[in-house]
Amino acid sequence: MTIENNMPKNYLMEITGDEFDLFRSYIHQKFGINLTDKKRSLLVSRLQKIIRESGFGSFQNYYEYLVKNNDHGQIQELINRISTNHTFFNREKDHFEFFSQVALPEVVNALKKKGKKDLRIWCAGCSTGEEAYMLLMLMDEFFGSDYPNWNAGILATDISQRVLDIALPGIYSEEKIQSLPTRLRNKYTSKLSDGNYQMIDRLRKEVTFRKFNLMNSVYPFKNPFHIIFCRNVMIYFDEIDRKKVVNHFYHLTEPNGYLFIGHSETLGRKQQAYTYIQPALYKKVI
Ligand SMILES: C[S@@+](CC[C@H](N)C(=O)[O-])C[C@H]1O[C@@H](n2cnc3c(N)ncnc32)[C@H](O)[C@@H]1O
Repeated sequence: MTIENNMPKNYLMEITGDEFDLFRSYIHQKFGINLTDKKRSLLVSRLQKIIRESGFGSFQNYYEYLVKNNDHGQIQELINRISTNHTFFNREKDHFEFFSQVALPEVVNALKKKGKKDLRIWCAGCSTGEEAYMLLMLMDEFFGSDYPNWNAGILATDISQRVLDIALPGIYSEEKIQSLPTRLRNKYTSKLSDGNYQMIDRLRKEVTFRKFNLMNSVYPFKNPFHIIFCRNVMIYFDEIDRKKVVNHFYHLTEPNGYLFIGHSETLGRKQQAYTYIQPALYKKVI
């Protein structure tokens, strides 16, 4: 039992400058997430529970444990706590309008011309699933009764297992479901006896949720995607990592496919081969 374990729960632990730097570079190297000096107390408040409960006693001991043992459970716990997972239905909604009114018809028509019926969409950094389900609902509406004739699901990935565990059953509180347009809510969710809402089975079957770290050097996807959504994820990466990730995306985008990023993000005109279409929207024009 350590001194920290005996401290009251609301007591904020101390982190030294050196310890903060160790964590900062560890988190950056493993997950790409950049913690500025301003995030120091955030780091403490998010990690002190692990340190107390696992009996590490100090940030230094916790860090040494992570580095020496490469314990996947503890590393997962760290990313579960450190990642910011804020998301909601219909976020940055003009993207969804563009998706269903421009990107989807364009991509689908091009596929039809080639006699193909497989449409691949990737939602990278999907958090608790709202964005992936939005895309699915719009896709289902777009195809209508023709949907079963298409091989058109969504791959949704995130580095945090905790959020994927929420995304998979697709259950959201009444408050969370508020931002979903009523038409879509009525059509694609069912109300549960506890007052929460669940995405209907037919929709849930069309999404594959997987854990994937965008910092991996290899992106193990067999075929490129027609549309990639990676919104409000790279905002936490530095320029070098962002460039690497965008480069992977580019190689994994089908010719004339689209990349959607968050509205507060930009790729920088010089560092990408994509063509800028409108804020936060790029196309691989070929
Ligand atoms: C703020 S949420 C964005 C959710 C959604 N895309 C949106 O725009 O509403 C950012 C997500 O990116 C994930 N993330 C952060 N670093 C990542 C990485 N290196 N690889 C994969 N996902 C990552 C986080 O776990 C988090 O769920």
